[in-house]
Amino acid sequence: MATHKLLLLPGDGIGPEVMREVEKIVGWFRKRGVGFETETDLVGGAAYDAHGASISEAAMDRAQQADAVLFGAVGGAKWDSVPYAVRPEAGLLRLRKELGLFANLRPAICYPALADASSLKREVVEGLDIMIVRELTGGVYFGEPKEIVTLEDGSQRAIDTQLYHTHEVERIARVAFDLARKRRNKVSSAEKMNVMKTGVFWRQTVTRIHKAEFSDVELEHVLADNCAMQLVRWPKQFDVIVTDNLFGDILSDIAAMLTGSLGMLPSASLGAEDPATGQRKALYEPVHGSAPDIAGKGLANPIAMIGSFGMALRYSFGLLDEADRLDKAIANVLASGTRTKDIAAPGTNPVGTQDVGDAIVKELEALS
Ligand code: NAD
Ligand code: IPM
Ligand code: MN
Repeated sequence: MATHKLLLLPGDGIGPEVMREVEKIVGWFRKRGVGFETETDLVGGAAYDAHGASISEAAMDRAQQADAVLFGAVGGAKWDSVPYAVRPEAGLLRLRKELGLFANLRPAICYPALADASSLKREVVEGLDIMIVRELTGGVYFGEPKEIVTLEDGSQRAIDTQLYHTHEVERIARVAFDLARKRRNKVSSAEKMNVMKTGVFWRQTVTRIHKAEFSDVELEHVLADNCAMQLVRWPKQFDVIVTDNLFGDILSDIAAMLTGSLGMLPSASLGAEDPATGQRKALYEPVHGSAPDIAGKGLANPIAMIGSFGMALRYSFGLLDEADRLDKAIANVLASGTRTKDIAAPGTNPVGTQDVGDAIVKELEALS
């Protein structure tokens, strides 16, 4: 039996709370004979407190060795004034960059039971199934220079650099077109070509790849600000949205609310396929952060984290039946009304983080 090596990085705030629920799910699959081996390490503020860095070299090595990394969340007020280079979020950015996780898949699916949990009208979100493909290792997150400079007159100037190379846009475009072929065959590419050179370049590059390799897929270009508006106006017009690192960050938080809560949105961060082994480096992370306002209270919705593990089953381990069963268990639990506060139906009693994990395990059992 193949053994899958998972590195768990719970992080800060609600990260450890939602990771605990994933461990229950992993434990259940293990009991059923799926070979999972887990290790746990520190990241974010927790790593800073222990090592003075947002991720240790040892944890980076473990991440490089793992078949998949499961990442909780990092950050919190406690670390707001630590040096910029070692802030909690730097640990996540280092993982993405050094593991080469350029493709971030953020599916926004509105479960039937949650069509009323969204702040938008039922008919706008019911049945929604879109995929945001966010470029994750380039753009303004990593471009140099990135600095605050003090000028001769004592005033300051701040610079971030939005930078993309041909191969970076080409490879993320290919990921989006490939995914679209397995879905509804449409890609919407979002940039700001009306004000940014990187936007002009993005549009040209995506158009060229489309023409040369994917002319069977429908392609449309949309300005990123309009894309944000269209996402709340009529999100079902989209299938796959491909966009850069910063726009992808923002558009995916918007998409989260279409599904009912930021606590619902999972994601997969994938590297390039190794031609020798067919394997790719991968990290699975909910789209939400450490949620300091609810941390430590047992209120967090663990479904984004559990759904991220479901994406690991699908994309790293090829365990498609198991992934489908987990999705079904989540859908059934939501339909039964077992929900945390962020998605509870009006007039019902919300349950805690652990109750949702327990209910999903129970439902997995019932589905077997
Ligand atoms: P956040 O995502 O942590 O929280 C935004 C809002 O959504 C809060 O009201 C929170 O309670 C709610 N929320 C988030 N996840 C939830 C869940 N699972 N269940 C129920 N409600 C949930 O964003 P923020 O408040 O802007 O950021 C807090 C910290 O998290 C910052 O330090 C930020 O940098 C960090 N952050 C980390 C990640 C990550 O680790 N991947 C992602 C985003 C933000
Ligand atoms: C996300 C987060 C991260 C990002 C932060 C924590 C660095 O907001 O994954 O959406 O901006 O990419
Ligand atoms: Mn974000």
